[in-house]
Amino acid sequence: MRYNQIPNSLFIKNRNNFTARMKANTLAILTSNDVKHNNADDVMGFTQNNDLFYLCGIDQEETLLVLYPDATKKENREILFVKETNEQIKIWDGDKLTKEQATEISGIKRVEWIQDFEKVLQLMAFEADGIYLGHNEHIKRVTHNQQTQQDRMIAWCKEKYPLHEYHRAAKITRDLRLIKSEEEIALMQQAANISVESFKRVLKACKPNMKEYELEAELSYNLIKSGATRHAFKPIVASGKNACALHYNTNDAVCKSGDIILLDFGVCYANYNSDTTRCFPVNGRFAERQKEVYSAVLHCLKEGSKLLKPGVLSSDYETQMAKLVETELIKLGLLKAEDVANQNPEKPLYKKYFMHGTAHHIGLDVHDVGLYSQVLEPGMVLTCEPGIYIPEEGIGCRLENDYLITKDGNINLTEAMPIEINEIEALMNSLS
Ligand code: GLY
Ligand code: MN
Ligand code: MN
Repeated sequence: MRYNQIPNSLFIKNRNNFTARMKANTLAILTSNDVKHNNADDVMGFTQNNDLFYLCGIDQEETLLVLYPDATKKENREILFVKETNEQIKIWDGDKLTKEQATEISGIKRVEWIQDFEKVLQLMAFEADGIYLGHNEHIKRVTHNQQTQQDRMIAWCKEKYPLHEYHRAAKITRDLRLIKSEEEIALMQQAANISVESFKRVLKACKPNMKEYELEAELSYNLIKSGATRHAFKPIVASGKNACALHYNTNDAVCKSGDIILLDFGVCYANYNSDTTRCFPVNGRFAERQKEVYSAVLHCLKEGSKLLKPGVLSSDYETQMAKLVETELIKLGLLKAEDVANQNPEKPLYKKYFMHGTAHHIGLDVHDVGLYSQVLEPGMVLTCEPGIYIPEEGIGCRLENDYLITKDGNINLTEAMPIEINEIEALMNSLS
């Protein structure tokens, strides 16, 4: 693996917290993700299922985890199933985990080969009253045309064991994963640190007439060289008016002198993520109007992020941020105070220039699990990402940091990433 092995005490603790919330005499089955196929025999790569990873740390395809804390036989309380290697796999793909390695990573003593899963489960299933299964419960997830391993496991279990009670593992993991442990915060800080250095490399490389993808390449170079697993998502390198398309990522335009670039990127390190956005001028100097817009967004970020503290409701935080942006839009001459005073509250005018939410949880997923109806608590990590988008002026500006909620307020995990106008200009114009 590219990252230093995570002490298995983290996964043991996570499993203890998970099983403590299971109903009496139930078992849980967690699946890995599929290896996604492209065309012919090409594969798009593999990303582990985050609930499975959270509970055992195994980063390999074809893995299953069974937890049955009330099993009468002690050896049935935790069983990990992994892929058995063979000569063909060794020749084509190289090493797969041995049972001993799987135990070392996960802290689970009993490891079996995945082909024995059905047989082993059959010996346990009728002792249990209910079964917890994983499912993607993200509110924006569209699954109708993509069957996942979780979907197949649900269908298989319900056919094979129709009279058991079924429960949602995601209801437990979304609560647990919301509050990050010290070990997880250290991994997220590592992702953030890699992102800081990667951003500085992009700033120094940026010159007029480069293609956006050349800056993407600088970013990718630094990420991979620093031991990141991958980009947390396809980076957005959007110059000029491209920055007004919120999820622009074709990154194929020429960066013109006089434009600013919006760079929204994330680093995935040991499966934990950062998510940051910075804006900078192609030619190394902000024009006056760009400075005005940038300073307005920076003000909203600085003031808005102060609201990230224990006891605050996400919806109140979003409302307050909208107010901050609204005030800045009036100062920038984009909205009239009088129109704002008379606006339809159902259709606030600021949405013309600021059309997205301000925060999301982040962790093993970039848009991490968790309900937004809960108040903020220490250990949560959220982004703060205000923006102002003015297509008619060719300016799109968003600034984004990642904040750990603490008992007194928050800590900016991405503090070291340059953000002040003078810092950015100085780095872009330095000789080294
Ligand atoms: N890049 C996606 C986001 O900022 O949420
Ligand atoms: Mn974000
Ligand atoms: Mn982002």
